[in-house]
Amino acid sequence: MGMGYADFGGGPAGSHAGHGQHSDDGWDGPPPQPGDVSVAELTGPQDGIPDVAVTLTAARGSFRLATGEQVDGYTLNGSSPGPEIRAKQGDLVEVTLVNDSVPDGATVHWHGIDVPNAEDGVAGVTQDAVPVGGKHVYRFVAEEAGTYWYHSHQVSHEQVKRGLFGVVVIEPVGSEEAVPSDVVAAVHSYSGRRTISGRTGTQTLETEPGETRRVRVVNTDNSPLRAWVTNSAFRVLAVDGRDLNEPPEVRDRVVVVTAGGRVDLEVTAPDDGSPARVDVGGGAALLIAPQEAPAAAAPRAPTQRVDLLTYGTPTDIGFDPEQADRRFDYRVGRRLGFIDGRPGYWWSINGHLFPDVPMFVVAEGDIVQMTISNSSGDVHPMHLHGHHAVVVSRNGVAATGSPWWVDSLNVEDDETYVVAFVADNPGIWMDHCHNLDHAADGLVAHLAYTGVSEPYRVGKPVGGGADNEPE
Ligand code: C2O
Ligand code: CU
Repeated sequence: MGMGYADFGGGPAGSHAGHGQHSDDGWDGPPPQPGDVSVAELTGPQDGIPDVAVTLTAARGSFRLATGEQVDGYTLNGSSPGPEIRAKQGDLVEVTLVNDSVPDGATVHWHGIDVPNAEDGVAGVTQDAVPVGGKHVYRFVAEEAGTYWYHSHQVSHEQVKRGLFGVVVIEPVGSEEAVPSDVVAAVHSYSGRRTISGRTGTQTLETEPGETRRVRVVNTDNSPLRAWVTNSAFRVLAVDGRDLNEPPEVRDRVVVVTAGGRVDLEVTAPDDGSPARVDVGGGAALLIAPQEAPAAAAPRAPTQRVDLLTYGTPTDIGFDPEQADRRFDYRVGRRLGFIDGRPGYWWSINGHLFPDVPMFVVAEGDIVQMTISNSSGDVHPMHLHGHHAVVVSRNGVAATGSPWWVDSLNVEDDETYVVAFVADNPGIWMDHCHNLDHAADGLVAHLAYTGVSEPYRVGKPVGGGADNEPE
């Protein structure tokens, strides 16, 4: 797992009383203590008939985008993105991953869905990668309505970039009218071709004048994307699967969607029948109009941003970040050194290079504050698995808008965010940069609960010539 040393954030050590054990091919985790629960036991419900059952068959090969371009990569059930998975809040979801022909093995991680740890789909951390010919069943209850996505977390910098992902929508119960009006806009670049849900260029979503759509923008790329709406006011309804409180209408603003992040936009088709247009860069756009609208040149992006630090209205978040039981620093920098014996100018965490990086240790029930800062010269989309954190402040300025919950946070160079969360989901969780090339270069740490032991190993051979290699 690549955890160099335990960081207790000012709280008690619990069972993680010291350094883990390194071996040449990975991290063995903290030595198990009597009474520990294994990651493998922290599953979703094992009994019960699923409300939603899906089989995802992963394959390596070339395929065509819906708009015809040839791509050499990976598919799920023959396409990329893979099938959109839809569940209602409260549904038991069962997904069977079958690896038909992905030589390095594959997994499915439920990005942003705070599933039980054993369902999290991280090779070498929560399961072994599934080799060619193998399968793995994931089961979890869809608890929080929102926009999420899934992707392989085995050799992810390669597999996600080349197609092994799809979108998950969890619909709220008791709001049937929301169902027909929403649309997924999964943004992905295949060899530099920017697509929305697998199509390059512009596409029209037929919508009556005055009708409102919820556009679920998902950034599956490695860099932040800018989304903007032309010819209509809009609202930011949700970020990372959490509705914002009282989001006001805005105009002529860009919305930054960090890598791995999601933003739901409310867009209304203009009364005069002209198209409202949602751009995501690279010429990819969604036209919201009564009929197929002619392609036009992409309008320029506005210069002003929607600033989520001040957008919307505050409301109770259910805990007090000031009462934190643990306070951690996650300082991203860059320095000279060696990773895997390779010299380079590498990302560092709290001054250390992978794998000698902190493992953030918490106990169940703790309130946790984390100060994430960046002096590395590049932007990092920081993603914590298994939890949503609320933004407390940015560069020392307190958040004053709607509670801004994230699972993926855009931390630009020279920025410092304080975020807080409740440790309510025991397990061992990745906490890494979602520029997956950065993660592959060592920008990876973990959050570990006391009393949880790790049976899996990064670097372990899992059959078919594959080793567990989550990044
Ligand atoms: Cu979207 Cu660690 O992942
Ligand atoms: Cu990064």
